[in-house]
Amino acid sequence: MSPPDSTDAATHSPPQVDSFVTHADRAKTPVGVAVVGCGYWGPNLLRNFQNCDQTRVVAACDADPGRLERVGVLCPQAETTTRFEDVLAGDDIQAVAIATPVGTHARLARQALEAGKHVLVEKPLADSVADAQDLIQAAEQHQRVLMVDHTFLFSEPVRHIKALIDSGELGEIYYFDSVRINLGLIQNDVNVLWDLAPHDLSIVDYLLGRPPRSVSAIGTCHTGCGMEDVAYLNLDFGNELIATFHVNWLSPVKIRHMIIGGSKKSLVYNHLDPVEPIKIYDRGVSVTDSAEARRGLLISYRTGDVWSPHIEQGEPLAAVVRHFAHCIRTGETPLSDGRAGLRIAQVLEASERSIKAQGGRITL
Ligand SMILES: NC(=O)c1ccc[n+]([C@@H]2O[C@H](COP(=O)([O-])OP(=O)(O)OC[C@H]3O[C@@H](n4cnc5c(N)ncnc54)[C@H](O)[C@@H]3O)[C@@H](O)[C@H]2O)c1
Repeated sequence: MSPPDSTDAATHSPPQVDSFVTHADRAKTPVGVAVVGCGYWGPNLLRNFQNCDQTRVVAACDADPGRLERVGVLCPQAETTTRFEDVLAGDDIQAVAIATPVGTHARLARQALEAGKHVLVEKPLADSVADAQDLIQAAEQHQRVLMVDHTFLFSEPVRHIKALIDSGELGEIYYFDSVRINLGLIQNDVNVLWDLAPHDLSIVDYLLGRPPRSVSAIGTCHTGCGMEDVAYLNLDFGNELIATFHVNWLSPVKIRHMIIGGSKKSLVYNHLDPVEPIKIYDRGVSVTDSAEARRGLLISYRTGDVWSPHIEQGEPLAAVVRHFAHCIRTGETPLSDGRAGLRIAQVLEASERSIKAQGGRITL
């Protein structure tokens, strides 16, 4: 693998997620795992590592001993510790999952890689491009798997959308319009973009397989802490393909909508609808290339069928932990590897610069 730099983001071909588990994987001893950070999200990792036949939870670590009380219920056999050093020293711990606040990711992940552990880091990989690049180099140097929990890449609806786009069903993609808003959980070390936008950015990165050309963003802070809690992010991919993301910690309602507009069909992905998460619309406009059309006379509207494909239900995080174990065993590059995390950090860092420049366009 070559050293990471900004040109790494130019192209990438993610491996197929269908290869989560093979028979060879099942035959081997489970990977010993420690989960670091047992606040809101860490217990979800613990539960999924516990339920996965490819992994064994050896330890759980949290700086706050009160957060370790639930661990005994989820993983009775796991040792608990408040000291990260214990995790690093554990010979029976081959892999570490980091679910601590974003500002701690890079330091903890680097220490774990240097101690010879494979590392799964919660999104975002790091809170700066420099730290994301540093982690990629550390993983290469120590020949360990570095994976980011871009959870949505492992969800059935997103995989279905990827298949629809790749098959040409939607035609040429014109735009992404995403809304991810709710009340809280306000973080104290990153703004709303670094907290919520990695989900949408990683989805679009996966679906398109190419990075944006430029970024512009505006955002405001209403709590006095200096961290934006409402933000609007726009990406320009060139060739008339644009994407807009609205993230908000102050919204009275929870919305998780992504509209993907195509030349043939468009779709709406509603993550909060477990029954019909995807609706495909045979609706759009056609412009006849003639003198009349240029005077605005020959635009026709297509209002065809709307349908919702059957989507298997399953917990994406279960697929995340299986894929992590699979990559450790086989040496396969994770679907959401360090470079995927770096591409998201590049957009987010540029968005911060744009906000400081009152929405100015930042070229990547
Ligand atoms: N993939 C997802 O869908 C998803 C969802 C929510 C959160 N997350 C990510 O999970 C991470 C944690 O978020 P959260 O909401 O659970 O935060 P949280 O504040 O609820 O929990 C973080 C925990 O880490 C502990 N901690 C902090 N520093 C530590 C250290 N040095 N060593 C050991 N423990 C330490 C804290 O005591 C706390 O219990 C964040 O990176 C967040 O972005 C991911």
